[in-house]
Amino acid sequence: MKVAKDFKLISCLIIILCLLELTNCDTRRRQRRPNRRRRPNSRRRTTLPTTTAANSTPGRCERIVVPMCRGLVGYRRTYLPNEFGHTTQMQVYQSLEYLWPFMDIGCSRNFRVLACGMYLPKCPGNTGVEGGLKPCKETCKRARRCRAKMRELQSQWPTDFNCTALLPRKSKKCIPPVSERPRCANQHIKCQRNEHDFCQGLNFQLGMLPNMFLQCSKQDIHRELDEYRVLIDSGCSEHLAFLLCGIYQPFCTRAENPFALPCREICELVKSDCESTYSRLHGGLPWPGKLQCHRYPLSTDELWLCAMPGDTSLALTPEEALANGEISENGENSENQ
Ligand SMILES: *[C@@H]1O[C@H](CO)[C@@H](O)[C@H](O)[C@H]1NC(C)=O
Repeated sequence: MKVAKDFKLISCLIIILCLLELTNCDTRRRQRRPNRRRRPNSRRRTTLPTTTAANSTPGRCERIVVPMCRGLVGYRRTYLPNEFGHTTQMQVYQSLEYLWPFMDIGCSRNFRVLACGMYLPKCPGNTGVEGGLKPCKETCKRARRCRAKMRELQSQWPTDFNCTALLPRKSKKCIPPVSERPRCANQHIKCQRNEHDFCQGLNFQLGMLPNMFLQCSKQDIHRELDEYRVLIDSGCSEHLAFLLCGIYQPFCTRAENPFALPCREICELVKSDCESTYSRLHGGLPWPGKLQCHRYPLSTDELWLCAMPGDTSLALTPEEALANGEISENGENSENQ
């Protein structure tokens, strides 16, 4: 029942964090965000040699590396340049970054498929489709559920995402919709075992769902974490798993504040150890937005609680959570799934 009592507080915190995600950007980043006043198209035309690049560069298929799409959209290879004239995934990453929160927030699973598919069309293979397969009209229509959420958070539906201009599913020359999952919005915060293999052997065994990106599907979180396997395997930092597990499922604590994010200090350490490897393994992309350390509290912060890898006394153990009735025998929250 402690869970229910804390729910309001935590959901406020999550909303604040989520807003930070959307608004806590320096000017440089803000300029990149296409939908502030200027329309995406007008901005891109000013910064990228669009049509000329598209005409002079022969199209090619390549492996998707941008973190908000890689491993999460049902196909692995994309065709570039895209219709916006982006020739590299770095350009795509910069255009997609401001949409990342809406892919996670649970307004529609099809929003990710749409946003990724528009910018990273699927490699056409032998379908004969010029320029790669874009999302189907139906995929786009389902994704439009996110419009309300975007308005609520002072953003707007990208003008480039025109559902009417897309092919219908029955053409078989487009990326079909995925099934929607129940939304997170009314779900209670719950502590669950961090079940991902990276998260085994940490002092913290329980993590919170939904996370601060408002992802509530363990399956979605695990798929995203899986994409860090190459970085983990590179051995760049012994604390990388701690950082990832704590970001994707904030650690449940026995303190008054029921959860803790990894401290900024450990984030900075991991970042400095792994950034160049990440970039090398991902076609030169920058350190991903979700792992940007300014998002995480300093250990000296009085308002937020954070966790370091060696913190043993802070962790809520499964036995304690069980005794409090917060989880059931199998480590799952009792009202789960
Ligand atoms: C969307 O696409 C349709 C069909 O191509 C076109 O008629 C319409 O003007 C477009 N709408 C916008 C807002 O660009």
